[in-house]
Amino acid sequence: MPYAAITGWGQALPERVLTNVDLEKMIDTSDEWIFSRTGIRERRVVGRDETTTSLATAAARQALARAGRTPDEIDLIVVGTATPDDFLVSQSCLVQGELGGNAGAFDVGAACAGFVTALSAGTQFVTSGVYRRALVIGVDTLTRYVDYTDRSTCVLFGDGAGAVVIEATEEPRGLLSTVLGADGAGHKHLFVPGWGALVPESAELFPEYRPYLQMNGKEVFRFAVGVMGDAAVDAVKRAGLCFDDVDMLIPHQANLRIIDAAARQLELPREKVWVNIDRYGNTSAASVPIAICEAAEAGRLKEGDNVVLVAFGAGLAWAAGVVRWGTAGVAERADQYDETATR
Ligand code: ACO
Repeated sequence: MPYAAITGWGQALPERVLTNVDLEKMIDTSDEWIFSRTGIRERRVVGRDETTTSLATAAARQALARAGRTPDEIDLIVVGTATPDDFLVSQSCLVQGELGGNAGAFDVGAACAGFVTALSAGTQFVTSGVYRRALVIGVDTLTRYVDYTDRSTCVLFGDGAGAVVIEATEEPRGLLSTVLGADGAGHKHLFVPGWGALVPESAELFPEYRPYLQMNGKEVFRFAVGVMGDAAVDAVKRAGLCFDDVDMLIPHQANLRIIDAAARQLELPREKVWVNIDRYGNTSAASVPIAICEAAEAGRLKEGDNVVLVAFGAGLAWAAGVVRWGTAGVAERADQYDETATR
């Protein structure tokens, strides 16, 4: 079984909507500035009762229902996240605890590139024959680490989760190629000081200290424009395809100008690029699977379509791949899924 078809997909978003107009009342900014520089109009922000676990579990349940699978039938759960609910317990174990079953469970840390990296990891287990079915999730609640007095970062991020089920098949479906890369020297351009096991002076001196995300926007922008298009082109080549074979680009949604640069490099018109940054902002590891789910729900992904996924994030890290869409008959339920069943 050399392939791992995507047979189910799901997404979950927090209820609360934070618009650019809301932000105008909180900080010195404007809808015009935010939209023209980033493409964002609004984003979703977790409330007290919403967590990384609750979002990831809701997305996973929807993906499982679409695939017609129960948690017992899943062999492996891989979660890409930078904002797990616990330091010690993996986010994938927390999700598994909610879903039930005894699937193997581990997390992937690649920030916004987390889902594409996790999909690559899960696919290796399935295509090598070690496991038959895996649940792959991208989830983040970065707004918990956003300083809402810092206008250069707080306008960018939102929260959410997306999930897919992948299953072994002999048909060429699922992830056909993978490109992973990192430039660790750039870690200082995007990080959360005082969040890790590296005990910061601030924690000793200021017990009330709250860690917030810090970013050198210009450097990250420069890096992203350089790497997104190159990684996407590399993924197409590694899949043995040419640009004309690409039916859809589903990029990480960090900035519309970065997305446009990647699309230009693949010579793709805007209608072949999935964009939802206007509604959700940058949801980190969740952005690619949420977009996959939306595109599938809108009927824009057809059996046999070649879909390029590409993402970049803190690390600095990047990940790309080409997915051949379709269940190839592995799970008929995906096409007959009744959305009302999970509501
Ligand atoms: N509202 C109004 N003005 C603002 C705002 C705001 N929200 N934010 C910054 N400005 C001001 C700045 O202070 C600056 O003013 P000055 O010239 O008087 O100093 C001016 O706008 C221009 O600021 P720049 O930083 O040059 O703006 P730029 O065009 O570079 O856009 C942005 C900034 C949107 C952050 C851009 O650099 C970007 O998108 N970078 C990439 C960020 C990114 O993708 N991060 C996510 C990585 S994924 C992950 O792993 C989490």
